Amino acid sequence: MEKLTGLKKIKTAVFISGTGSNLKNIIKFSKLKKSPITINLIVSNTNLAKGLQYADQFKIKKKIFNLKNYNENEKNILTSLKKEKIKFICLAGYMKILSKKFIKKFDGKIINIHPSLLPKYKGLNTHSRAIKNKDKLAGCTVHYVTPKLDSGKIILQNKVKILARDDHTSLKKKVLKQEHKLYPAAIMKIFN
Ligand code: GAR
Repeated sequence: MEKLTGLKKIKTAVFISGTGSNLKNIIKFSKLKKSPITINLIVSNTNLAKGLQYADQFKIKKKIFNLKNYNENEKNILTSLKKEKIKFICLAGYMKILSKKFIKKFDGKIINIHPSLLPKYKGLNTHSRAIKNKDKLAGCTVHYVTPKLDSGKIILQNKVKILARDDHTSLKKKVLKQEHKLYPAAIMKIFN
């Protein structure tokens, strides 16, 4: 990843599909002096994403893409990214798989947060699967995005203990708390 020179910050887009707690956390982090990135665009594949509220709250541009014609819309996403001079992409609960072509255009410049200790539990329902398998540990991973789902190089991970009383909801909450620590730390690690 390119090194930072002087005060230049990397123009970044965050892609979301839902609540946006990671988005909010990344925006707050981006406002710190030490942050290597600024958030210049929020992309969502649905206008129902609650996280879109943070675009209004923090006065950040947003783009919502109707994914019925996904290939066509990926082109539109790329146009928007180019227009905003976006150089880096953080996926934060973006529940749509990006095409190979798209990923190639931003090769090594897209990262994702996943709610498991990868390579365990790629895909969905990570917490329920960890509980069902009686795992002692769960956690979250920030990794580079490659065309193979949840398989790119790992940047950082945080672990949490799974207690006997944990269910899907309590584990999700615990892991999310760690996600909010992990994502900024991973961004710092990449650019420093
Ligand atoms: C987070 O737990 C994130 O790790 C997960 O979606 C949630 C989004 O929460 N991402 C994935 O499952 C991606 N495969 P948020 O909208 O509150 O940030």
